[in-house]
Amino acid sequence: MNLNEAVRREIGRLERTKTFKKETVIESEQGAVVRVAGKDAVMLASNNYLGLASDPRIKQAAIRGVRDYGYGVSSVRFLCGTLTVHRQLEEKIAGFLGTEDAVLFSSCFAANEGFFASIINEKMDAESYRDVIYSDRLNHASIIDGTRLCRAEVVDRKIYEHADVNDLQKKLEADREASYRFGFIATDGVFSMEGDLAPLPALIEISKKYGRILFADDSHAVGVIGATGRGSPEQLGVHGKVDVLSGTLGKALGGASGGYIAGNRDLISYLRQKSRPYTFSNSLPPSIAVAAIEAFTILEQDPSLIERLRQNTAYFRKHIQELGYKILAGEHPIVPVMLGEASVAMDMSEALLEEGVYIKGLWYPVVPKGEARLRAQISAAFDQATLDRALTAFEKVGKRLGVI
Ligand SMILES: Cc1ncc(COP(=O)(O)O)c(C=O)c1O
Repeated sequence: MNLNEAVRREIGRLERTKTFKKETVIESEQGAVVRVAGKDAVMLASNNYLGLASDPRIKQAAIRGVRDYGYGVSSVRFLCGTLTVHRQLEEKIAGFLGTEDAVLFSSCFAANEGFFASIINEKMDAESYRDVIYSDRLNHASIIDGTRLCRAEVVDRKIYEHADVNDLQKKLEADREASYRFGFIATDGVFSMEGDLAPLPALIEISKKYGRILFADDSHAVGVIGATGRGSPEQLGVHGKVDVLSGTLGKALGGASGGYIAGNRDLISYLRQKSRPYTFSNSLPPSIAVAAIEAFTILEQDPSLIERLRQNTAYFRKHIQELGYKILAGEHPIVPVMLGEASVAMDMSEALLEEGVYIKGLWYPVVPKGEARLRAQISAAFDQATLDRALTAFEKVGKRLGVI
């Protein structure tokens, strides 16, 4: 088979099935309002939950990082790539999340990819062994890929229904007699398509009962939910009680890039040795490390950004429903506006952009058939006028297309 012909055919298939991901070019910095094709548009599609991506304090911190430590470190951590600011950031993350330590990765994708295999593929002192991972059906791609990197001969991968503690319990009960070496329960803290939370208190209880390790990816939660922005454990009253947390620096916390795993000291120390995306990949640039420290410091000193995000989210959720739109219930700034047919979601997102609102649609196979939606993401960067501008465009376009 000719590779070029094959990829052209596959691209054609993506276009025909309307699953080809188009990239809209943005001509400004990320913010409440961005420039697209020379025109302003309210940004409802970014993970810039706190507006820190273009916050002057974060930009200044990144500049300090370059000034004091240069542009890059040209090394992995264990050769000559560990700067004081890397360790400071790791301590900051651990302190913020209530864990003993944390380790940085180039992204949360890399962190999730590097976690399971670093443990499960290692014999340690076992003669022979088998491990198990119970994974929520809607977990992020990086968790799925992370579990796939574990060698099939030494792992059982079991999918439980989304956020369904009963289904998980059945699976754990069925395995009661199995002599697994280690067992993990893996979940997103907040699920990105729906904006719903994992049932962490029940998962903690069940993980203790069955002697499993609870792993939660809190990428859409840290700096977003919880009274002080400490994420889904704080929101659900179990701060400091999840065994292992992963997360990103690429969303609420400035939106550049970088990820981490936080947990107990021994585990983190082990990951530094064995987690291949950490051990064999370049350190985070100092600009990002210094700016991320600043982002955590802002959160620690002043929860008003979190409060503003909460107010903006409540305002948008209330008024979009008053216009006649159906949304998925919840409190998270991810607000799925349910439209049903994929073609409606496509037409709406195009028409909204013309009216100065940047929002993306999701449809099958990303979400189930008949559940096409626009995913609005609210930010603390919005003032009320900006939110109203977006809502007015929703009203105009929705009426014109007969959606409301
Ligand atoms: C739940 C979740 N985990 C991980 C990631 C990946 O994070 P990063 O961009 O840091 O690789 C994302 C980003 O889309 C996410 O939504």
